[in-house]
Amino acid sequence: MTIIVTGGAGFIGGNFVHYMLKKYPDYRIVCLDALTYAGNRETLRDVAENPDFRFVHGDITDREGVYRLFAEEKPDIVVNFAAESHVDRSIENPSVFLTTNVIGTQVLMDACREYNVPRYHQVSTDEVYGDLPLDRPDLFFTEDTPIHTSSPYSASKASADLLVLAYCRTFGFPATISRCSNNYGPYHFPEKLIPLMITNALADKPLPVYGNGENIRDWLYVGDHCRAIDMIIHNGKIGEVYNVGGHNEMKNIDIVKLICRELGKPETLITYVEDRKGHDLRYAIDPTKIGKELGWSPETKFSDGIKTTIQWYLENRKWWEDILSGEYKKSSLFTK
Ligand code: NAD
Ligand code: DAU
Repeated sequence: MTIIVTGGAGFIGGNFVHYMLKKYPDYRIVCLDALTYAGNRETLRDVAENPDFRFVHGDITDREGVYRLFAEEKPDIVVNFAAESHVDRSIENPSVFLTTNVIGTQVLMDACREYNVPRYHQVSTDEVYGDLPLDRPDLFFTEDTPIHTSSPYSASKASADLLVLAYCRTFGFPATISRCSNNYGPYHFPEKLIPLMITNALADKPLPVYGNGENIRDWLYVGDHCRAIDMIIHNGKIGEVYNVGGHNEMKNIDIVKLICRELGKPETLITYVEDRKGHDLRYAIDPTKIGKELGWSPETKFSDGIKTTIQWYLENRKWWEDILSGEYKKSSLFTK
């Protein structure tokens, strides 16, 4: 079994590569990653010597390069994590979000069709459903919730989802889609809320909370997301969308205060800053379908997962300090 994992030098893709190589010693995992600012070779250091792993530096929008790789590897499954993933950057510069997230998805699906790849999985997000009001805790996103996007990022992810579903219907394309809530855990790029707050707090820097900090996100430990994708690619039904989330809603401000407490840092570091434009109020996933159909449920409680995550950042300072200094771009892994 050969699986091409795109975006494997990023946060969730990197965790997925580690997870799959450990769980399936007889699988070959090929990571295709363009190493944008969010890609870090060092995330893959622990698997670099594994004979079942190959790293390919390449862009999913490069049709020729992608076709060449598919011809060489003849993958059994393609899992697409590669994306521009940060909402704030999409507000600053939407173009690259459309190129990578939409056109890149199309190129990968075309390559699958050209080389008869039997299975494709699109890693999507709960952000395609827009947001929920703060005063209606009874409402959740189901797979039938209408697409209603807020940011250029979520619009690009929703566009890709629609394209995947269109390929399923028109060409009988063998794809599934997962829409997960906010992930946290090791190897999370320190521009996102949790790793930013941990790394800033460790440096006694201000902790910038957008707006009033009352916005709610539904947090899932990254390992639980990887396990959900594993279940979907092996047992999911073609043409289906699966929501992934663990009913773990928290206000941003409560997360930031918790990180301060865990690190023994004063809450005076918290600084309220201008709100994100179009800021989604609340995300909350209803994961009933994946639970019923595939038997998935989250295994890591937030109270444990956040401690593990903080501990990981304490023990892996070089990984994130090199990102902050720009040194990570000089890693020589996979360059020979
Ligand atoms: P990330 O930004 O940490 O990593 C993205 C990776 O994709 C990087 O390694 C980057 O180099 C690579 N990449 C970007 N453009 C590329 C291109 N054109 N060709 C090849 N590689 C390219 O992202 P993440 O947080 O790990 O998210 C992974 C996927 O999961 C994304 O599709 C995202 O939309 C989705 N998702 C993320 C979350 C979350 O909480 N982080 C939740 C749900 C879904
Ligand atoms: O829900 C899934 C999505 O989660 C993924 O699709 C995205 O790729 C991923 O980046 C994440 O999007 P968010 O916008 O929810 O994540 P972010 O970490 O950027 O922000 C989380 C919340 O924290 C959000 O309400 C904005 C707020 N925030 C964020 C940053 C970076 C702050 O208050 N201060 C900050 O400095």
